Amino acid sequence: MISHMNLLVTGAAGFIGSHFVLRHMAQYPDDTVVVLDKLTYAANREFLRPVADAITFTEGDIADQALVASLVKKHVIDCIVNFAAESHVDNSISDATPFLHTNVIGTQALIEVVKAHPGVRLLHVSTDEVYGDIGSEDAPRKVGDPLFPSSPYAASKAAAELLVMAAMRTFKIHACVTRCTNNYGPHQADEKFIPTVIRNALSDTTIPVYGDGKNKRDWIYVTDHCDAIEKILHTDFAFWDESVPSTNPNDTPGCGHFFNIGIDREWENIEVVKTILDLLGKPHDLIGFVEDRKGHDWRYALDSSATRALGWEPKVQFEEGLQKTIDWYKAKYV
Ligand SMILES: NC(=O)c1ccc[n+]([C@@H]2O[C@H](COP(=O)([O-])OP(=O)(O)OC[C@H]3O[C@@H](n4cnc5c(N)ncnc54)[C@H](O)[C@@H]3O)[C@@H](O)[C@H]2O)c1
Repeated sequence: MISHMNLLVTGAAGFIGSHFVLRHMAQYPDDTVVVLDKLTYAANREFLRPVADAITFTEGDIADQALVASLVKKHVIDCIVNFAAESHVDNSISDATPFLHTNVIGTQALIEVVKAHPGVRLLHVSTDEVYGDIGSEDAPRKVGDPLFPSSPYAASKAAAELLVMAAMRTFKIHACVTRCTNNYGPHQADEKFIPTVIRNALSDTTIPVYGDGKNKRDWIYVTDHCDAIEKILHTDFAFWDESVPSTNPNDTPGCGHFFNIGIDREWENIEVVKTILDLLGKPHDLIGFVEDRKGHDWRYALDSSATRALGWEPKVQFEEGLQKTIDWYKAKYV
């Protein structure tokens, strides 16, 4: 176990990054945590208020390589954990430009800084959407499976992780890539599916459900995702040594370590909506089916055995996580 880490956490004023920092500071209060966030519409610095005095916050862009390098140098950073992204698929369909800037150019800027500071590791947070969708009977995706992104968002995330992989192979940077399934929980931007369902249900407004609502996702509670990242930081990643064979059966020698993170339980979108309505005591006739999203992925499913082999297990049951999520949004919206 590493005794102390100096982390640069990007995008930590957003949904997942904020939970990661709050949990990390609770578990490792002596660590140094520096946050770099551009404070886009998806961010809220208030999420970090409980740890505001314990962390250093910098407003800025991950694509600003000089800024990232100065933070790494000043705070003697051991590891960059990259959550920063444009993350909403629908927005990427309207305009992909900000996605290319942050997700691709921004990630390359972080890679350049890691290349210039060989002691610094990069944990790059990616998504299962890089695999594209899979059929009802297909096996869960393994790390070595082909990437087949459907949306500009997923394509930008795939491009980013391929840049990380190329830097691992060519420059031997010390990096990991995590591909997690759909997250839910407090702090998620209002535009996302579950916040939209809760908000509309609370105001008795029609809940728009794409297509026939049968698309399946493996929903993970946000803190379970954060715990998986901590596990990777403190086990596999901490003891990285290219001379020692990886414990990850999916790794390609010399290509670094890739981890899928999912809970192996799929829910149809319509089941999610009905469960939320039931938990809120609202009628199912609030559901209104709308024209399907362009390129809407049918199903995601992941083989997360390599992450589980590190000793990680998801802890939060779906209904329990949904109730916590509903309670948080109730306090926000009502
Ligand atoms: N939400 C999910 O279901 C999910 C699932 C798997 C993977 N991911 C990945 O996890 C990461 C975090 O996702 P999220 O849902 O918390 O996103 P989010 O949109 O809630 O937060 C993104 C954060 O990044 C910041 N940011 C955006 N552009 C930036 C830039 N150029 N420089 C610095 N900061 C910038 C924003 O201000 C915001 O605080 C993303 O990389 C996303 O691809 C998300």
